[in-house]
Amino acid sequence: MSSLVRFVGRLAVRVRSLTRPQTVILTILSVCCLGVWSAAATGHQGIALSLLASLLLGVLLGILHLSRWISGVYRANQNANRELRLIMEQLQRRVVATVEKERVTAGDRHQDLTRTVTRGLRQSGHGTDLLLRAQSREIEAMFQLFRQCTPRAPMPSSGDFALNPTDLLDLLYLVRLRRPQLVVELGSGTSTVWLGYALAEHGGKLISIDHDPGYARQTRALIAAHELDDVVQVREAPLREVTANGKPYQWYDVEQLADLSDIDLLLIDGPPAATGPDARYPALSVLAGRLAGTATVILDDTNRQQEREAVQRWISEVPGLTEEQRLLGRHTVLSYSRATTPVTV
Ligand SMILES: C[S@@+](CC[C@H](N)C(=O)[O-])C[C@H]1O[C@@H](n2cnc3c(N)ncnc32)[C@H](O)[C@@H]1O
Repeated sequence: MSSLVRFVGRLAVRVRSLTRPQTVILTILSVCCLGVWSAAATGHQGIALSLLASLLLGVLLGILHLSRWISGVYRANQNANRELRLIMEQLQRRVVATVEKERVTAGDRHQDLTRTVTRGLRQSGHGTDLLLRAQSREIEAMFQLFRQCTPRAPMPSSGDFALNPTDLLDLLYLVRLRRPQLVVELGSGTSTVWLGYALAEHGGKLISIDHDPGYARQTRALIAAHELDDVVQVREAPLREVTANGKPYQWYDVEQLADLSDIDLLLIDGPPAATGPDARYPALSVLAGRLAGTATVILDDTNRQQEREAVQRWISEVPGLTEEQRLLGRHTVLSYSRATTPVTV
């Protein structure tokens, strides 16, 4: 009894969940069944048979419709499956292509990296080689320097801010060869001491200019320790605005250089590059007119772009100035021979 109640309950739930067309069909079928049953019960065999035939026809038509609907659903399902397979295949191909591309790119990147590392190793080896060769050049120069002079006090270090031994060696060679009476040096330090010893040999004088009171004091102390005060004078000339070729620069106070004339050798090793762009360019605008009829101009650090440019500008602006063959080091030597036209840079 309880299972019948459960069955009826489930049936009621299903009936309630039917769509409107399903409800209509079910109602028609139920009415037909009722009609067959009542016609058979009341002895109307003909009506009962007709209703039964109509019922059968309806059921057949329903089955036909259902089978067409199922085959439609089946076809749609197959199409969906085919499309899904196509999409999966495309996706798979794309994944394979992407992985392959990444593999090739990674291979290329690995090759690039290997090449860069190999090149880096080769260059650093080459760099070490160059450094060792440069060092041995400086050591050779240092030996030659100390054979030329026996200092009376410890010599200050060369290199870095000071001239390198190779530059000092060439400078002293030119001093011994050309015997300048007046040497002016822009930027004092180690070179001041070496120049002092070289000039003491043949009676020349050195005026060394420094913009920095501390470094000027230090160089003065060195000159005193080496007993070169009779040969060397260290002058302080703070940086001021100087106009050269129509442009302002920070350069030595020209007042401190006002008395200088007939300079036989001008060594330009200051102001330091950190004081401003083209820091050394004004040197010849101010001092070209104070050079002796025949003079030598030396500019240090011409391994640097700004100094190389300054040399080219001076040669084009100062008549009688030509570049000499460089023997050693990173400086440039220029010969000056007074031209008839006055210098106006
Ligand atoms: C290139 S240095 C001159 C060096 C000098 N001609 C020599 O060979 O020793 C130019 C100026 O830099 C300053 N100077 C010197 N040594 C320095 C250092 N170690 N650090 C910063 N400035 C320095 C001084 O004022 C000097 O006049």
